[in-house]
Amino acid sequence: MLAITQYAFGGPEVLQVVEVDRPRPGPGEVLVRVAATSVNAADWKVRAGLLGQLGDPPLTLGLDVSGVVAELGPGADRFAVGDPVYGMVFGGANAEYVVAPAQTLAPKPRNVDLVHAAALPTAALTAWQALAALGAGQRVLVHAAAGGVGHLAVQIARHRGAYVIGTARAVNHEYLRELGADEVIDYTATDFAAAVRDVDIVLDLVGGAYGSRSLAVLRPDGRLIDTQGSDAEADPRYERFYVEPSGASLREITTMVERGRLRVTIDRILPLPEAAKAHELSEAGRVRGKIVLVAWAPPA
Ligand SMILES: NC(=O)c1ccc[n+]([C@@H]2O[C@H](COP(=O)([O-])OP(=O)(O)OC[C@H]3O[C@@H](n4cnc5c(N)ncnc54)[C@H](OP(=O)(O)O)[C@@H]3O)[C@@H](O)[C@H]2O)c1
Repeated sequence: MLAITQYAFGGPEVLQVVEVDRPRPGPGEVLVRVAATSVNAADWKVRAGLLGQLGDPPLTLGLDVSGVVAELGPGADRFAVGDPVYGMVFGGANAEYVVAPAQTLAPKPRNVDLVHAAALPTAALTAWQALAALGAGQRVLVHAAAGGVGHLAVQIARHRGAYVIGTARAVNHEYLRELGADEVIDYTATDFAAAVRDVDIVLDLVGGAYGSRSLAVLRPDGRLIDTQGSDAEADPRYERFYVEPSGASLREITTMVERGRLRVTIDRILPLPEAAKAHELSEAGRVRGKIVLVAWAPPA
């Protein structure tokens, strides 16, 4: 099968289209014929050697998959061959086929196509799991609210009945209000730490010095949920977050999508062999929503 593989850490140019062996599903696993995958910030960080989750090259990136079930491993009886599914995997989705544990997949939402389904898993699971403790009437501040995770976090927070504040450039403000944000702050013109107060949860998708500045807006019993490391780690209200693949959480996300409560924004659709271009766009940090990569011969 074809895969986008890298043999060294480096810039987007290390991504190569190569022929590799098709993986076989083991016990409890499912082989998915990939229709589409999407780009996450982790992809370019792993490619460059900044995150070690996938080990050393050679490696094939890709955390998100949508497609159809091509083969079942022993005991993977939750699905049937031909089922349209989507899910988060730990790498490997930038290929014609990928293997995933059955319990991390879910049936594709009925009201979206496989392209939109591929945009959801990692970003939606991150938003869903990171905001699990958010309750009705609470105030949440979402940094990078217009990005892949952020735009879904705004909708999930709104759905949970929270008062939602987001940081984004002015060009994204109207868009975020349409998604349900109550307040938007242009971080290029306004110091969010001075403009916001009494926040119950900050979802920090920027990190670095945003950490300590975010502590200033929290209530004494508030929580700072950080996705990538920041200067606030010593504070008792700080919490480091790591997304987990979960078919169960994905089914709840499916319900939101099918009820029209959660819609994913696709900034750009590219063919999978143009993964390097997608990485450049992602790394530039201006993507609204998600970039989707469509596989070679997606199923009908
Ligand atoms: N730990 C975990 O489990 C986990 C899981 C998922 C993601 N993450 C991390 O979370 C971060 C966000 O991921 P993502 O996929 O949502 O990224 P993304 O889609 O690449 O984010 C792009 C967005 O960031 C916004 N942005 C850039 N600089 C900003 C700033 N200084 N303040 C506010 N907004 C800013 C941009 O909006 P504007 O154009 O409006 O500036 C753009 O829409 C990444 O670092 C990723 O690695 C971690």
